[in-house]
Amino acid sequence: MSFFKEGDLQNGSVRLSDDGRSIVIIDQTKLPMTEAYLTLTTKEEIYNAIKILAVRGAPAIGICAAYGMYVLSIPKKDMGYDEFAAAMKADGEYVNSSRPTAVNLSWAVKRQMAVIEGNKDKSVPEIIELLKEEAIAIHKEDIEMCGTISEYGLSLIKPGDGILTHCNAGPLATSKYGTAIGPMLLGKERGIDFKVFADETRPLLQGARLTSYELTKAGIDVTLICDNMASMVMKNGWVQACFVGCDRVAANGDFANKIGTSGVAILAKYYGIPFYTLGPTSTIDMSCPTGADIKIEQRDPEEVKKMWYKEPMALEETKCFNPSFDVTDHELLTAIITDRGIVYPPFDVNLKKLFA
Ligand code: MRU
Repeated sequence: MSFFKEGDLQNGSVRLSDDGRSIVIIDQTKLPMTEAYLTLTTKEEIYNAIKILAVRGAPAIGICAAYGMYVLSIPKKDMGYDEFAAAMKADGEYVNSSRPTAVNLSWAVKRQMAVIEGNKDKSVPEIIELLKEEAIAIHKEDIEMCGTISEYGLSLIKPGDGILTHCNAGPLATSKYGTAIGPMLLGKERGIDFKVFADETRPLLQGARLTSYELTKAGIDVTLICDNMASMVMKNGWVQACFVGCDRVAANGDFANKIGTSGVAILAKYYGIPFYTLGPTSTIDMSCPTGADIKIEQRDPEEVKKMWYKEPMALEETKCFNPSFDVTDHELLTAIITDRGIVYPPFDVNLKKLFA
């Protein structure tokens, strides 16, 4: 079954502009109250949009980087091959340095560099056309992968179940259905209803601003909770499964996702609730042995102390720790739901089989 439909490439959170020379993204920093769009043409604009989370979510960042490599290649059409390849490598490295944790960013840049390096015999304008085709292929593949992941996720839950999610792993973070909230969106299309609990996700509030926005607009029953309410909601028996996204899955099944995910996993284990991460194979990094090898992004302390408040919520001199992600140990994980199937423990063995 194909999940890709005509018009999907124009309707997601990331797309090519009508003239094909820029990327258009929905500005996720302005949601939920304002639906504003940003046009990105230069490498600085692309870098900055990823850095400030105007475009965010591992797969969406990858799609943006793939289109970015195409858009950045256009003004280089008159260069010779060597100059072109060197300039594209430098641009790719710059865009890739915007955020370190989500592997989809470097994965997409590498895929585009492979197009450049594998077509030395072609003219630069021909290579530029191939970069466009590759970006579109990455975008379409993500739509298919998210659809398939949603289908697998849906097979694990029953109508009426309560599902707890953390951060945002919906269409805004991907291409269409999303990963962790894809099963509920796909279920809704088929007349199956669930009750979703969305952690607000301190400090950047992706759960409040994005997940509850997406689910409300889709007509899905969603209850927003502060992160520190998850334990009570689980204790009350309202949660039958936890679905979260991932930014990088290591070869042993440890995975990085939004800060606070590991705490949700520990709670789920305590209350005997199955805990799943859902992600496309582009988020699995078999070159990364364990979670200890994942680089965790550290962000500006101002996001914790000031960002959402009229006045600061801590003294200027207060020390602050603001890691953007944490690593959930594979022992806390029931299964990894991927586009190639549901992977159960032992993850080191079964992830290898997935890529065999
Ligand atoms: O910092 P963010 O908002 O980019 O973090 C996003 C997440 O942690 C998501 O859960 C993850 O990227 C998966 S999106 C399908």
